[in-house]
Amino acid sequence: MDKLIIHGQKPLSGSVKISGAKNAVLPIMTAAIMAEGKSRIKRVPDLRDTRTMIKLLEIVGAKCTFHNGSLIIDGSTVNNPEAPYDLVKTMRASFYVLGPLLARFGSVKVSLPGGCAWGPRPVDFHLKGLEKLGAKITLNSGYILAEAKRLKGTKISFEFPSVGATGNIAMAATTAQGTTVIENAAREPEIVQLCEYLNAMGASIGGIGTSRIVIEGVDSLHSADIKVIPDRIEAGTFLMAGAVLGKIKLTDVNPSHLDTVLLKLKEIGADINTSSNSITINPTDNIKPVDMTTAVYPGFATDLQAQWVALMTIAAGSSVITDTVYHDRFSHIPELNRFGANIRVDNNTAFVRGVEELVGAPVMSTDIRASAALIIAGLFAKGKTTVSRIYHIDRGYEKIEDKFRLLGANIHRGNSNG
Ligand code: UD1
Repeated sequence: MDKLIIHGQKPLSGSVKISGAKNAVLPIMTAAIMAEGKSRIKRVPDLRDTRTMIKLLEIVGAKCTFHNGSLIIDGSTVNNPEAPYDLVKTMRASFYVLGPLLARFGSVKVSLPGGCAWGPRPVDFHLKGLEKLGAKITLNSGYILAEAKRLKGTKISFEFPSVGATGNIAMAATTAQGTTVIENAAREPEIVQLCEYLNAMGASIGGIGTSRIVIEGVDSLHSADIKVIPDRIEAGTFLMAGAVLGKIKLTDVNPSHLDTVLLKLKEIGADINTSSNSITINPTDNIKPVDMTTAVYPGFATDLQAQWVALMTIAAGSSVITDTVYHDRFSHIPELNRFGANIRVDNNTAFVRGVEELVGAPVMSTDIRASAALIIAGLFAKGKTTVSRIYHIDRGYEKIEDKFRLLGANIHRGNSNG
């Protein structure tokens, strides 16, 4: 099994190109199968999750061609509205096929995703939303069966602005009869891009980027092309490494998607310059401890919480980090403590006491973003770190070790034999 081997405390310099956003491309791919035609998606990151989604779309009958960051999805052959457990259990975002397939075929069978490394992660908002749109939902042998000849527009108000539920319901409602209003909708850039893509496909969605989305149902969607937005989580991960290890420049990035993160990085003492599509960070010798609470967009992303904790482990003092989006997302803490970090968790809050120095250690990935935090800690630490179970990182980061190596890090991939 692959692992990453890091010899830490090497200075970083140079520039790194940010890939297309995983969390944007996955729902866009499922939207593409709502049309009978070929859609071309550009700047598609070559990730394990992208490959899993391609596999799933092929199972439902789509034809996919992926080459050099360009993905063509032909939805004209889609004929099997069913997402099997084997795939859904490996990638929760598979659930994004629910809305599109129900809208197109009037019936769909999708495995329930189940839990994940950091808690139960329910899908009740997705299901309640579809029921409100008139779907009949039944659960049988771990599968959700949703049926509706044609969905009917309605008002849906989410208890919490769920990214996935907003995406699923928005896709389902594009071809519903009448008007659908989604209140307390997610405003994440990835949902904004999904809605813009649906509009390019012929949908009529208003209020994009606000918490009230209004969808006028249309009869059908057609294929359309799109270029995926930059991955703000990958960008944030590199920025946190740069804040300690050297001046680096991120290119092909959208700084406005990272406003909150950039503010926090300035608070710790890093110097940051931005242009319309680049961010340069100058490190600081003395990292000020800064508290952080995750929140839905435009707040600080929960997907960067683990990396922020890693950064705070070597700050000059104590900090308090709370996750309000996922209350159990702290599987990285025991692993970070293996580097000599001093972190205690109480409910959804991590209390971090900065230490002088981390010391390399063998550690284990538990999920995508926790893996990123362990890599950062390994880069900060004195001596050798090995990060095992790195299939998690391959789900969401494109060639992360190559990108860090180009910046000067001593990091390479090995297997159990070394
Ligand atoms: C997406 C992202 C994930 C990110 C998360 C929060 C993708 C593929 N994944 O996940 O990387 O960490 O947004 O920004 O885009 N909830 C319910 N019932 C539901 C749905 C959600 O209770 O039906 C709760 C969740 O348990 C969680 C909160 O709502 O506490 C937010 O979840 P949600 O925004 O839905 O996350 P995902 O779309 O799964």
